[in-house]
Amino acid sequence: MMGDPPTKTELSFRPAAPSDGAFAADIETALRPDSPRDPVVYRYWWSQPDEHLEIARFIARRRGRDIGFATTEHARWDMQPERYAWVGGDVLPAERSRETLDAILAAMEERVVADGAAILCVWAYEDDPLRIETVLARGYKEDRRSRRWELDLDANREKLLAMTDASRARMRREGVRILTLAEDDDPRVIEKVWRLSEEAGDDVPTTMPRVPEAMEAYVRWVNAPEVHRDRFWIARVGGDVVGVSVLAYPPARGIVGTNWTATARSVRGRGVARALKCETVAQAIALGVDRVRTGNDAANAPILHINETMGYQIVAGGIAYLRPV
Ligand SMILES: CC(C)(COP(=O)(O)OP(=O)(O)OC[C@H]1O[C@@H](n2cnc3c(N)ncnc32)[C@H](O)[C@@H]1OP(=O)(O)O)[C@@H](O)C(=O)NCCC(=O)NCCS
Repeated sequence: MMGDPPTKTELSFRPAAPSDGAFAADIETALRPDSPRDPVVYRYWWSQPDEHLEIARFIARRRGRDIGFATTEHARWDMQPERYAWVGGDVLPAERSRETLDAILAAMEERVVADGAAILCVWAYEDDPLRIETVLARGYKEDRRSRRWELDLDANREKLLAMTDASRARMRREGVRILTLAEDDDPRVIEKVWRLSEEAGDDVPTTMPRVPEAMEAYVRWVNAPEVHRDRFWIARVGGDVVGVSVLAYPPARGIVGTNWTATARSVRGRGVARALKCETVAQAIALGVDRVRTGNDAANAPILHINETMGYQIVAGGIAYLRPV
């Protein structure tokens, strides 16, 4: 039998070092081999601070061995008076049981409750019944879903390149310039992309109030190992940045995927988001990438429509659960 005896999980936790991010990426890859995670990317993000978020990470151990990871994450309470707090974590496939997942979540809940959390949040993939059962048994209720998609760049090649041509013509007519961050010579360009992202960030459907992102955090994303300035597409009208779309390219292992697409409220509905997404996938095709993924909230109508009409197919998405303390 896999897993542990029902009455005793024997788990202990030690604070994680940034280098443990690679172990977390390995665990997630072992659990979902169709969605490999990149150890280089995890190590980078596990070594970054955040101005507005409090994040804690642990390695779960049993019988002298590292078997899993566990995390808590919440906004600084002064930034989000509602006090939502995420708990998470998982273990190697051979160690996985409802009791073990339950013990991981319980330990992380205890931490954030002691910290002052008011509403607990946890996440599960739609096709992970073991985790879903564990979460529901801990008293959580489903809050909202995220849709995940995959686009086959070989099967949709001609259609996507034709859509890219049509979008380029439309942007020329509209007076919108589409270029990469590497091609832009405005010294304030990253600040402008950040400001635009903050405006658009408030329009992403969500239950929990969004916490503003610090400019420093944004710069850390632009400098992340999966992000390249010459693959970072922006839209400009004169001196303003009015759109952004970025595909992340995991350097060691994993599937190329959209990190973020957003447009300024002043240009919505004029094809700017589609034009930017088309440039990202046309570039991926030119680089020899065979497929890309993306994800968005299941209630985000305009981006669902763009993804559908580009030829993205639905894959298993995620469910966010909430539980008041
Ligand atoms: C999602 C977003 C990027 C779309 O930007 P945009 O510049 O308006 O997009 P486009 O003009 O290229 O395309 C919008 C398409 O959605 C359609 N659309 C708009 N509202 C819609 C709705 N409520 N239901 C269905 N379709 C809708 C438009 O008709 C258009 O379709 P078309 O290309 O077939 O004409 C923008 O709304 C945004 O920044 N939102 C906040 C950030 C966000 O949610 N980002 C994506 C998820 S992470």
